[in-house]
Amino acid sequence: MELRIDRQAMVPVVQQIVDALVCAIRCNQMMPGARLPSVRAIARINMLSESCVLQACERLVAQGALEPLQRTGYIVAAPAPAVLDDAGWIGDAEYDPCRSSCDLQLGAGSLPESWRESDDLAYAIREVSRTDMAGLFNYSSGLGLPRLRQQVLKCLKPLDIHVDESRILTTAGASQGLDLIVRALLKPGDCVVVENPGYPVLFALLRLHGVSLLQVPRTPLGPDLAALETLFVEHRPRAFFINSFHHNPTGTSLAPEVAKQLLQLATEHDVRVIEDDVYADLHSVCGKRLAALDDNVIYVGSYSKTLTSALRVGFIVATAETIERLAEVKMITSMGVSRFCESVLACLLANGAYRKLVQRQRQRLNNDRLALLQLLEDAEWEVFGKPVGGLFIWARSRMADCAQVRAQARRCGVLLSSTTAFCPDGADSGWQRINVACAGDPRARAFFQATTPDRPQAF
Ligand SMILES: Cc1ncc(COP(=O)(O)O)c(C=O)c1O
Repeated sequence: MELRIDRQAMVPVVQQIVDALVCAIRCNQMMPGARLPSVRAIARINMLSESCVLQACERLVAQGALEPLQRTGYIVAAPAPAVLDDAGWIGDAEYDPCRSSCDLQLGAGSLPESWRESDDLAYAIREVSRTDMAGLFNYSSGLGLPRLRQQVLKCLKPLDIHVDESRILTTAGASQGLDLIVRALLKPGDCVVVENPGYPVLFALLRLHGVSLLQVPRTPLGPDLAALETLFVEHRPRAFFINSFHHNPTGTSLAPEVAKQLLQLATEHDVRVIEDDVYADLHSVCGKRLAALDDNVIYVGSYSKTLTSALRVGFIVATAETIERLAEVKMITSMGVSRFCESVLACLLANGAYRKLVQRQRQRLNNDRLALLQLLEDAEWEVFGKPVGGLFIWARSRMADCAQVRAQARRCGVLLSSTTAFCPDGADSGWQRINVACAGDPRARAFFQATTPDRPQAF
C-alpha cells in the first residue's frame, strides 16, 4: 500500500498518512471488514516510522473509519452516521450522512483544521483571563469594545477605508452584521439584488425576513453591469448585496472600472450597496474597495475566515447615523457581542500576532492556488476567472457525465460542494466551489487525475 507522503508539505506526516489511508481504502475499494496491511508493512513500504502509522490508524479508529482487531491489525469499518455539517446544510444533493466524516470536503468554506494555529490564540485567551476582569464578566458596549474598534480601523487603512470610531460597530461575525442590516434597513416585501452565484446563507436570511431576491450574474470582473442596470430600472430594489473581493463561491474580485460604474448606477437609482468583504485578509494584492470609493457603502468584515470562526467577531462600517441605528437593533436583539471574544481579538491585533498569521496564510494559499490551477489544467477542468487571492476556485469538469464525476469523487474519498446551493433560485449550474487549501491533499489529486476526459475510467 503506497501512500505517497510529501515530507516537504506543511501538513503533519500523521495527518498525511490519515488522508492517504482513507484515499487508499476508497480507491482500492476495500469493503467493510477488509483487513489493512500490517502497520509494520505500511511503515516499511513507505519508509515511515511505525509509531506514525500506528498514530494515524488510531485516529482513523477514533473517526470510525477503521476497527482494531483483537490481537493485532485493523479492518475497514462499516461507515458510521456522520453529523450534518455545512456541506449538508447548503443542500448538497449528494451529501450522504452515512459516509465517513473522514471525507475531504473539497468545497469547504473555511481553512481546514490542519491549517489552524492555536498558540497565539491560546496566549490571548490566557492573557484576557488573567488581566481583564471586565472581559471575563461584563457586557460590551453597544458599538463594541473601543480598543477593538481602534485596531479594526488601523487594519482598514491599507484598504483605503479611512473612518473614525463613530462609524464602526462590532458584530458577532459577518452573519450578525448582515442580519442587523436586513432587520434595520429592510422590511418584508422589499426587493434586493444578490449575485448569482453567491452566498447561500444570505439568500436564506433575506427570505427569512420576507425580502424578495433579484439575481445579477457574477462575471469574473464583478456583477454584469448591463443586467444590474436593467434590474435597477425595472424593479427599483432597495439594496444590492455584493461579495466584492475573493467572492464566495467564484474566488473572483471586482475590477476597478466595474466598481466605479457600479457605484454610479447605485447613486443614480438610489440603491444602497452592501459590501461583504469577509475574505479581505486573504488577498495577494489589495484592490480598491467600494467602501473606499463611496462613504454611503455599508461594509461588512469578519475574522472568521482567517483567525477562527469560533470567536464570532466581525464588524460593520457605515455612516455614523446608520451605525447608531444598527447598534440599537444589535442591543435589542443580542445585548451586544461577547466582550471576552472582543478582548481576545483586540489582544491579537494589538500584539501583531494576527498580522503575521494572515501573512503566512496568504503565502501558503498563493502556493496552493498555483498548484491547484495546474491540477485543474492537467485534468482539463474549465476555470471561471483565475482567482489571484482568497480561498476558492470555481470550476467544472469537462467530463460529459456529472454522475461519473460524483462517482469518482466518492471513490477517492472526496465530498463535492453542491452545484445548486450557490444559485439564488436553486438551478443546477454544474460548477464546483473548490477550496484552494485542499490542493496538497492526495485525495484531491487522485480525484482530479481520475476526471481527465480521455483517461480510462475505473468503474
Ligand atoms: C460571503 C460570506 N459572507 C458572510 C459569511 C459569514 O461569516 P461569519 O462567520 O463571520 O459570520 C460567510 C461565511 O462563509 C461568507 O462566505
